[in-house]
Amino acid sequence: MINETKTPPVAVVILAAGKGTRMRSALPKVLHEIAGQPMLHFAMRAALRLSPERLAVVVGHEAEAVASSARAVRPDVAICRQEEQLGTGHAVRTARPALEGFEGTLVVLYGDTPFVADATLAQLIAEPETLTALGFDAAEPGRYGRFLMEGDRLEAIVEAKDATPEQLAITTCNSGVMAGPAALMLRLLDRVSDDNAQGEFYLTDLIGLACAEGHRPRAVLCDEAETLGINDRVQLAEAEAAFQTRARREAMLAGATLQAPETVHFAWDTVLGRDVVVEPNVCFAPGVSVADGARIRAFSHLEGATVGPGAIVGPYARLRPGTVLGDDVRIGNFVETKNATLGQGAKANHLTYIGDASVGENANLGAGTITCNYDGFDKHFTRIGANAFIGVNSALVAPVEIGDDAYTATGSVITRNVPAGDLSIARARQENKAGIGRKLRERLAAAKAKRKAEKTGG
Ligand code: UD1
Ligand code: MG
Repeated sequence: MINETKTPPVAVVILAAGKGTRMRSALPKVLHEIAGQPMLHFAMRAALRLSPERLAVVVGHEAEAVASSARAVRPDVAICRQEEQLGTGHAVRTARPALEGFEGTLVVLYGDTPFVADATLAQLIAEPETLTALGFDAAEPGRYGRFLMEGDRLEAIVEAKDATPEQLAITTCNSGVMAGPAALMLRLLDRVSDDNAQGEFYLTDLIGLACAEGHRPRAVLCDEAETLGINDRVQLAEAEAAFQTRARREAMLAGATLQAPETVHFAWDTVLGRDVVVEPNVCFAPGVSVADGARIRAFSHLEGATVGPGAIVGPYARLRPGTVLGDDVRIGNFVETKNATLGQGAKANHLTYIGDASVGENANLGAGTITCNYDGFDKHFTRIGANAFIGVNSALVAPVEIGDDAYTATGSVITRNVPAGDLSIARARQENKAGIGRKLRERLAAAKAKRKAEKTGG
């Protein structure tokens, strides 16, 4: 948690009402995903790490979709509807009902600026009595608001469209993130007007208004990478790439080996233990943790899966949500698991589907083992005991249980429970008919010769 002392309390308002026209999308901008989660959730999770007393999201464009996505992270988030997008200042005003009676520090974040670091937010709220804006030195200042500084004192923020040529030459720009005493900010917001080049109520005007009252607002500067805003799909891809570069680096510095880091794709919440080895071309979707010493072999896809210490997964494995692999489990090529728990030392090395199942310690599933878990309407469970041996190409028709130490014969279709220690053979018994193979061959050859003669001779 960033805000450990909790004094004074923090309220966070996340602005997410804008349309994001340049995304050219039916989906609202803040719901586009980076590393497997909507960019809005990055801002929300950063906010939650401040342990806020209040959290509000300002929604407008596609309000329902944005609100329900926000509730997925935090069911009790305050949703404030901004019917018309009249500017960032107006957006914060819209959140006033959610701040009723709140006394403390108000932090404003953008839903489309996902990467502001915790340390930066900590600095931002470090002087709770002071209105503070987060800036950065821009490589291309372009249409960003400019910080007008007098020494280390922030006197005003001027929007690019309202700036003089001299002001446009300033490269210290506004990220949009701002913090300060809630009472001061809300009071000054009432005095913000829309008398400017864009006819909008600018949040940035708070700085100049505060100075005019004798306050001394301050600027905190961060790396430009943290304030990366996303406006189109090119920037979305750049943000994804920036995230991936950082995630790979962090994983390696934390003790995982990535053999070809640039080919490994992380989700926002991927956790790798020490001495994990990840071979090339592995994709981690959300919800994966890999324990110490496990190896994820090339071309595997993991999602919602927990991989135990020393386990080996892949190459070409697919772990789907609800997979829990115990210590030293082996999952080989073209094996798919879903909602399945495999005990210590269990093996499924080739061409297998394990869905809605539990597999006991040291059980061995032969190539082509399939749990038949779905009947077209419902899912059913398969329980496989410890040390069980499932013969090659066995279909286990759920619900069904295979006891500890049991065997199923190759090619079996198992529809009834197999008691512990039994051998179950569930396939047609083989019959050999003496000489019939040769007779069949002669009969077929004669028939073919006759057809050929009829064609050419007739
Ligand atoms: C804003 C800042 C600018 C800063 C830039 C950084 C103002 C006036 N300008 O400009 O100084 O350099 O961000 O990216 O604050 N939003 C609403 N409701 C509104 C308007 C905006 O919710 O009525 C949300 C948008 O969805 C977006 C954020 O606020 O997430 C910023 O709005 P945007 O229109 O992108 O502001 P900029 O013009 O980029
Ligand atoms: Mg913007």
